[in-house]
Amino acid sequence: MAQGNDPVKIMKQEVGKAAAAKVQSDSIVGLGTGSTTAYAIEYIGSRLKTGELKNIVGIPTSFQAEVLAKKYGIPLTTLDAVDSIDLAIDGADEVDPQKNLIKGGGAAHTREKVVDSLASVFIVVVDSGKLVDKLGSTFLLPVEVIPMAMAPAMRALKRLGGQPELRMGVKKAGPVVTDQGNLVIDVKFDTISDPANLEKTINNIPGVLENGLFVGVADVVLVGEIQDGKPVIKEM
Ligand code: A5P
Repeated sequence: MAQGNDPVKIMKQEVGKAAAAKVQSDSIVGLGTGSTTAYAIEYIGSRLKTGELKNIVGIPTSFQAEVLAKKYGIPLTTLDAVDSIDLAIDGADEVDPQKNLIKGGGAAHTREKVVDSLASVFIVVVDSGKLVDKLGSTFLLPVEVIPMAMAPAMRALKRLGGQPELRMGVKKAGPVVTDQGNLVIDVKFDTISDPANLEKTINNIPGVLENGLFVGVADVVLVGEIQDGKPVIKEM
């Protein structure tokens, strides 16, 4: 793995590697989405290649995770074929002191919540810039919605005090379309004082599939920091 000089990239690489080091042979592993987890997937693949790890199967949380797992030689399965997931590794966009998360920066939070919630141990991998006192302070809350319900869902999100905006594609004309063929509404809330309640309230809006609040799902949060010019991994 080449290390450039970008401190954020270095933190992501090191924390991804630290999480991948926790994977044990003979296990079913949830493979998260995003730039940090991508390093974990790469390192799990290297450990399989050297023979240090044996008999791993992955459950991908997105098309991206599936492509990376194939690239790095991690055999894949589906939730139809297994009863449980031993360990899931996934990134986050914000983490609060109670280990509650905002996820969905990559529009993959629906599948991520399915996989991460099923894992016996869910390890979150973030750089220190993701730590916040209150969720919603730096990141908009992603909400996946079926296309025909976009307008009423936006109105309902406004009634909840949010400022919703449809996520638009980059290098693609029109909106982002999720792996499930849906749209993503990003919502700015002034404060999210009760994440558990907001998670349920938003998911009750007709046409909403899932939102990016992950409350009480994370077991371990590994945080990559730069101290005295060197990457350090801490557990929250
Ligand atoms: C994907 O939808 C997200 O939940 C990611 O896990 C999250 O955005 C973290 O991504 P990075 O590791 O790229 O910051």
